[in-house]
Amino acid sequence: MKVSFSFTSLLALSSLATGSLASTFQSAKWAAIPPDYNTALQFLANISPEGASPGAVGAAPSKSNPDYYYHWTHDAGTTLLEISTWLNGTSDASGSEVYSKKLADYANCSRSIQTIESPSGIGTAKFMMDGSAFTGAWCNPQRDGAAIRAISLISYARWLIEHSKDVSQYYDGKDPSESVIKGDLEYIASSWNADNNGCGIWEEIRGNHFYTCMIQRRAMIEGAQFAAQMGDTGTASMYESQAVPITGNMTSFWNNDKNLILPTINSNGGVNKPANIDSQVLLAALHASLGDGFYIVDSDQMLASVVAKTNAFKPLYPINTDTEATASSATMPIAVALGRYPKDAHNGYNSGQQGNPWSLITSGMADYHYRLVETWSTAGKVTITKATGTFFNQMKEFYGIAFTNAYEVGATHTSDSDTFGGLLANTILSGDRYMVQVAHHTDASGLMTEQWLCGEGTPTGAPNLIWSFEAHTSAAHHRTAASRIVYGN
Ligand SMILES: *[C@@H]1O[C@H](CO)[C@@H](O)[C@H](O)[C@H]1NC(C)=O
Ligand SMILES: *[C@@H]1O[C@H](CO)[C@@H](O)[C@H](O)[C@H]1NC(C)=O
Ligand SMILES: *[C@@H]1O[C@H](CO)[C@@H](O)[C@H](O)[C@H]1NC(C)=O
Repeated sequence: MKVSFSFTSLLALSSLATGSLASTFQSAKWAAIPPDYNTALQFLANISPEGASPGAVGAAPSKSNPDYYYHWTHDAGTTLLEISTWLNGTSDASGSEVYSKKLADYANCSRSIQTIESPSGIGTAKFMMDGSAFTGAWCNPQRDGAAIRAISLISYARWLIEHSKDVSQYYDGKDPSESVIKGDLEYIASSWNADNNGCGIWEEIRGNHFYTCMIQRRAMIEGAQFAAQMGDTGTASMYESQAVPITGNMTSFWNNDKNLILPTINSNGGVNKPANIDSQVLLAALHASLGDGFYIVDSDQMLASVVAKTNAFKPLYPINTDTEATASSATMPIAVALGRYPKDAHNGYNSGQQGNPWSLITSGMADYHYRLVETWSTAGKVTITKATGTFFNQMKEFYGIAFTNAYEVGATHTSDSDTFGGLLANTILSGDRYMVQVAHHTDASGLMTEQWLCGEGTPTGAPNLIWSFEAHTSAAHHRTAASRIVYGN
C-alpha cells in the first residue's frame, strides 16, 4: 500500500506551545524516538487490510498462534479515534484523504455490524474481518466498544461539518435510529446501568468497570453536544441526563482506604485482581478523561493510582532491574516496563502462564506524562497535593530525576516560576524513559508486538498489534505538544 503523506504534518497537531520555558530546558532535549514513521505505516496497514471488508480493523494480522485477525469493536474504536486526531491535525490534502477514507469505511462497516445478527447486538465484542458475526463462545457483552466507536465517529462527523459536508447518514435524528452514531448512543443510554454482566476491556471479568463507565460517560456528554448540534434537542437532553447518574455512580470506584481507583466493582465472575491494580484505569485517563474535573488526568485519584501501579510492576519483572537500553543506536535511560495487572496469567498465547509487560501500556504511561504537561500548561499552574508530591518523589526514587527547586505540599506554582518549569521538564524526562523502553523493543520496520518476555525482554505475543501502534503514535504526538511547551520545539 502506498501512502503519500508526510509524517511531520501527521504530527503537527495542537500547538499548545508557549515557548516561555524554552531557553531554560533546551539542553535536556532528548533524542527522537526512532520508528515513528514506520510505526504509523504499520498502523494504517491494519485498517481495511487487503481482502477484508473496507473499514474492518484487524487487531493484528496474525491468523494463528495467536489468532488475532478479527475486528474487535473496542480496538477498532480506539484506532479510529486516533486516526480522527490525525485527520484534525493535518493540513496535508493527501493525508486528509487517506484518514477520511479510513473513517468513512469504518463508519460504513460499523453500521453494518450494528445491524447484523450477532451474540450481543451492539454490545458484541468481536466480528470477522469480512464483516460477518463471530458466533463462537466469547465474553459478551462488552459495552465500552459502542462508546468508543461513537466518540470516534462524532469526532469525524464534526470534522466533516467543519468542512461543509453532510453527515445525516451518520446521525439521522430518527427514533428508532437507522444511523451509526445515534444507534450507539441509544444503546449506551439504555444499557449502561442494565446489569453487572458486562465484560471488561481484557475480556476476563464481568462486573461494572471503571474504563467502561468512563468511556460511556464521555460518549453521553459528547453525544448530547453533538445531538444538539444536529438539532435533535430532546434526545440531547436525554443523553445529558444519563451522564449525571453515570457520574454519580462512578464515585464508588474511588477507594479512600486503598488510595486507589478500583478497576471493577460489583464483580460477577472471572479473574481475581486482589491488588485492585489494573491498567484499564490508566487507559481510561487517556481515552475518556474530559477537562471537567471528574477523574481528570492530573486528579489526585489518577495520580495516586498511577503511582501505585508503577510501584506494583517495578519488582514484578526481572527486566525492570535494567536502567538503560539502546534505541536508535544510542544508550538511553529507561523506565520500568508495565503490564496489565499483577497476577496476569496470559502470556500472549495461552492462559495459566507467566504474564509479561505490554508495549501499549508502557507507551500509555509515557502518554500520561505528556498529557500532564499539557494539562498543567493549559491551567498555567501546578498545585502540589500529597498525590502530586508522591508522583514526583517516585520519579526521583526510581529514575534519579531530581529537583533543583523545592516544592511542598499545599504550594501552587504558577507558569511564571522556575519551579513550574522544572516540574514540567522533569515530567517529560520521566515520560521519555517509557518511550525509550518501547523504542528499544520496536524493530526498525516499526513492528511492535503485544508483550515482551519479563525475563529476557524478547518481544512476544501477537506481532503487529494495532493497539501497540495506536498507543505509541498517541504518545508520540502528545510528546510533540509537551516538547513545544517545555523546549519550545
Ligand atoms: C456501505 O457502502 C456501500 C457502498 O457505498 C453502500 O451501498 C452501503 O449502503 C453502505 N452501508 C451502510 C451500512 O452504510
Ligand atoms: C476534531 O475536530 C472536530 C471539529 O473541530 C472537534 O469537534 C473534535 O473534537 C476533534 N477531535 C479530536 C479527537 O480532537
Ligand atoms: C447506579 O446507581 C443506582 C442507584 O443508586 C444503582 O441502582 C445502580 O446499581 C448503580 N449502578 C452501577 C453500575 O453501579
